Amino acid sequence: MLPAIEYSLSFSAPSSGEREALSSLTPSPDARWHEKLDAAKLVVTALHEGSRVGVGIVHTSVTAPTLADSPVELGAMFVHPAYRRLGIREQIADTRLTYALSMGGTPITVIDNRNDASWRHFARSTQWAVEQEYTGYFTGLPMTIWVAAESAWHRTRSGLSSLVPAQPGIVLPDAPFGSHHLASAGESDASSIPA
Ligand SMILES: CC(C)(COP(=O)(O)OP(=O)(O)OC[C@H]1O[C@@H](n2cnc3c(N)ncnc32)[C@H](O)[C@@H]1OP(=O)(O)O)[C@@H](O)C(=O)NCCC(=O)NCCS
Repeated sequence: MLPAIEYSLSFSAPSSGEREALSSLTPSPDARWHEKLDAAKLVVTALHEGSRVGVGIVHTSVTAPTLADSPVELGAMFVHPAYRRLGIREQIADTRLTYALSMGGTPITVIDNRNDASWRHFARSTQWAVEQEYTGYFTGLPMTIWVAAESAWHRTRSGLSSLVPAQPGIVLPDAPFGSHHLASAGESDASSIPA
């Protein structure tokens, strides 16, 4: 049976105790790891029976040479080896991207080209596009900056109009061929059940 994973969100840099617990997930929490945590705007933590088994953050400590407007970076992703291939990264990644898009800047992420597990995730996603490749400052190896395909910066650059975020309470115009109202919770209206 798959373990029941819970997710918690926090919207600021982790406190020292929490930082220590999250850092123990990674083999080598270096100065860059801590810089990212210092600039965290969202921390998504995956928990199994109260233990931290995965983390990913949205932060504003961007050092890659992106051209994007107001970049916000999705980084510090780590899943405990015993909990990999369960979809934890997918869940954390979706949550981070939704939040980063709502911040109004341009979500980016930076991938070491040798990291196959990360590369496959971004390459198969329609929500990400390559912005540019560059040479890592410390490694001297190829790195790639990916940009959120739904961001205003990417869409404008691709000749597309920006997406307007959904507004709560918006009233849709009448449908031309009759309309079915959406049943609210508790209503039973078979005609509103999509095929
Ligand atoms: C990269 C990393 C975060 C992926 O975490 P993960 O939780 O295993 O990721 P997912 O479970 O979402 O997906 C991993 C693979 O398992 C597959 N998978 C997901 N759910 C699955 C399931 N129930 N059964 C079998 N396979 C499954 C996914 O399709 C994916 O396949 P792919 O590698 O062929 O694309 C993890 O390997 C890690 O922490 N690596 C070290 C740190 C690192 O590289 N971080 C990223 C830096 S950018």
